[in-house]
Amino acid sequence: MATKTLGIILNGATGRICRTQHIRGGLAQIYAEGGLPVGDDVIMPRLLLAGRNEDRLADVAREFGIEEWTTDLDGALADPDFPVFFDAAATHLRLDTLNRAIDAGKHIYTEKPIAPSVEEGLALMRRADEKGLRHGAVEDKLFLPGFRKLHNLVEQGFFGRIVGFRLEFGWWVFDGAEAESQRPSWNYTKAGGGGLLSDMHPHWRYVIEGILGPISRVACSAWTAQPERINEDGKRYDVDVEDATATLLELESGARGSILSSWARRVRGDDLVTFQIDGTDGSAVAGLRQCWAQSAADTPRIEGFNMGPDAATMDFSADYDAQWTEVAETAPYKNPYRFGWEGFIPHVVTGAPFAHDLAAGIRDVQLAEASATASKDHSWVDLPVLA
Ligand SMILES: NC(=O)c1ccc[n+]([C@@H]2O[C@H](COP(=O)([O-])OP(=O)(O)OC[C@H]3O[C@@H](n4cnc5c(N)ncnc54)[C@H](O)[C@@H]3O)[C@@H](O)[C@H]2O)c1
Repeated sequence: MATKTLGIILNGATGRICRTQHIRGGLAQIYAEGGLPVGDDVIMPRLLLAGRNEDRLADVAREFGIEEWTTDLDGALADPDFPVFFDAAATHLRLDTLNRAIDAGKHIYTEKPIAPSVEEGLALMRRADEKGLRHGAVEDKLFLPGFRKLHNLVEQGFFGRIVGFRLEFGWWVFDGAEAESQRPSWNYTKAGGGGLLSDMHPHWRYVIEGILGPISRVACSAWTAQPERINEDGKRYDVDVEDATATLLELESGARGSILSSWARRVRGDDLVTFQIDGTDGSAVAGLRQCWAQSAADTPRIEGFNMGPDAATMDFSADYDAQWTEVAETAPYKNPYRFGWEGFIPHVVTGAPFAHDLAAGIRDVQLAEASATASKDHSWVDLPVLA
């Protein structure tokens, strides 16, 4: 086996997601293991960290023993030793940066959302295709251990005919006044590329379609729960994007379901995100790591509310959670972002098929865009397959 080097520019390397997930959870591990076997070769990533702040770049470089970093993005794009460009910088910069990378002849891999709109995403993909460049979009949530178990149950036919599903996500993000916000302020302004629909609906598209098949139409209500927030400089600002959403979906299979996504909900239940699927033969609900199932045979016979004649005789004895069986682990844990790199690197090197390309990333944006339109127009919006 020959070891070959693949130069990868990581833009936005000091950001939370690039540092903690893509590098720490993925690329640094591949590096530490001596590279990624691809065909008869081993591919060793050579990383070039790109960003704005020298001190912070040096800090990331030090943490992972990376030798190369730069604040000169144009210089990095002009360097032929780095044929791959990855973008995890702030969302509003993405389209312009990816176009520059394509101009420079780089293969591109990108965080979500891949573009502000479907139209701009299609134009971006056309330009990459015309130049014969390979492309990919991060679609990590499908590789969460809990969702992988749920997917396996679908493939095993556990559910029978699927009749409904429910995806619930979110937690309370402080507004900066009562306590420091846990999320950067750009997430809460249009100019910063923020908004919960473009942030999280791209994920819910590939999760739902990846596990349950094509979505045909959506209705949605999106609103701003916390209209004023305090930014990193302690300044008050108006939130001009949605931070809470409720979406109804119809699938081509006939199943119906909902997504409740919110930065203004307090967590109760199994996990920060839960995805429940109900079918004629059984139901299952997955969180980030675990998954619980209840077959038709195990389904309790519920007759109705057990209220009793007064508060003292109310029946509190039913333990509904105990009526579910935890689905066993089928594989050792692997960081979900690492799956993406292990698919994208062979795609670049050998042309191996990679399902998570820009076309998939555009479909992700399409769900967010359709949901925004549905909310604005108070209507159902179709999600046609994109040409
Ligand atoms: N796949 C996922 O689950 C997931 C999760 C979180 C974030 N993301 C995506 O990753 C991206 C980054 O999110 P994050 O949470 O790491 O944010 P972050 O604010 O921690 O990081 C953003 C990065 O962009 C850089 N940046 C900001 N403004 C810039 C400017 N004007 N010029 C150059 N660089 C600039 C910052 O220095 C930082 O390195 C977003 O597009 C977000 O949608 C994806």
